[in-house]
Amino acid sequence: MPSLAAARAANAAFAPSYLPVAVFVGGTSGIGRACAEAFARYTRGNAHIVLVGRNEAAAHAILASFPAPSAPGAAHEFLHADAFLVRNVQAAADALRARLPRLHFLVLSTGLGMSLRGRDETAEGVDRRIGLAYYTRAKWVADLLPLLERAAAAGEDARVMSVLAAGKGGAIDVDDLAFRKGYASYKVGLASPTYTDLLFEHLSKEHPSVAFVHAHPGLVRTPLINFDHWAFGPINMLTGALAKNPEDCAEWMLYALFQSKHGFSRRSESGDDIGPQGRYGSAERQQVVKHTQQELAIALSKVIGPV
Ligand SMILES: NC(=O)c1ccc[n+]([C@@H]2O[C@H](COP(=O)([O-])OP(=O)(O)OC[C@H]3O[C@@H](n4cnc5c(N)ncnc54)[C@H](OP(=O)(O)O)[C@@H]3O)[C@@H](O)[C@H]2O)c1
Repeated sequence: MPSLAAARAANAAFAPSYLPVAVFVGGTSGIGRACAEAFARYTRGNAHIVLVGRNEAAAHAILASFPAPSAPGAAHEFLHADAFLVRNVQAAADALRARLPRLHFLVLSTGLGMSLRGRDETAEGVDRRIGLAYYTRAKWVADLLPLLERAAAAGEDARVMSVLAAGKGGAIDVDDLAFRKGYASYKVGLASPTYTDLLFEHLSKEHPSVAFVHAHPGLVRTPLINFDHWAFGPINMLTGALAKNPEDCAEWMLYALFQSKHGFSRRSESGDDIGPQGRYGSAERQQVVKHTQQELAIALSKVIGPV
């Protein structure tokens, strides 16, 4: 387990021979923000960094804090995308594919705060919680893989990291993968890491030159760990006191990203490769992959009003 100092030292050694292009979906807050800031610091601003989210003011404040770049081609920008809708992810990924020559790092950390609410569907029929944790992340990966493949073909890094809950997944119900028969947010919380493992395992076999990382950040002091109900005030205070700060978490998450060269790996909150321990079986992999493709296609086929 690397200490924080060891993770920092390893990250500081990141010195690519090319101008790195990194997209942080969920880079406007919390862990994604801290990862983007650390990435900007370690590259001395000499990178093309795209923050994706909805909060434009937060994004511009973060971008303004990055070191000013000196390398040709370096740029720091915000791309607005409401990732609740699969079609918005598709449009944003189209825009990225149109203007980025290649992509080296894709970091996904979209999430919703804790809540006791039940199923909460978008106009596309996708539950918002599992949508942000899993389905729309799967869409970002599928649509941006051509750019990652292009980086890999040039002999450069090509890595995807989903910051979710590696090693914390539970059993899944193959008869109700979309939670339409029985919904509970704890079930979604246990299934989405398992879905991520199975999808990334599948993708790593289909795209062997791209690294797929599923990371668990541990408890981190971000807006996400606050229950949105007054009755949870004491719990919110306790979790806030126990949590690590996003900046320290980002060092371990970047360590996980930089140290994962190929294939699929799962990383702990301190960046360690946790191996196959506790990993759900692969028998369901094809079912989850097929289900994911179907859910995304169904979402896109829904006719909805202007968004
Ligand atoms: N914090 C923890 O203790 C903890 C523990 C375990 C796992 N995790 C996981 O780590 C990940 C990151 O969590 P965090 O603590 O960094 O959360 P956070 O601070 O609340 O950040 C969530 C991010 O998701 C983005 N987002 C939310 N809804 C969106 C939407 N509809 N469209 C586009 N972007 C959206 C937000 O951007 P905008 O507001 O700009 O849209 C924000 O950048 C989550 O998957 C979470 O489950 C966190």
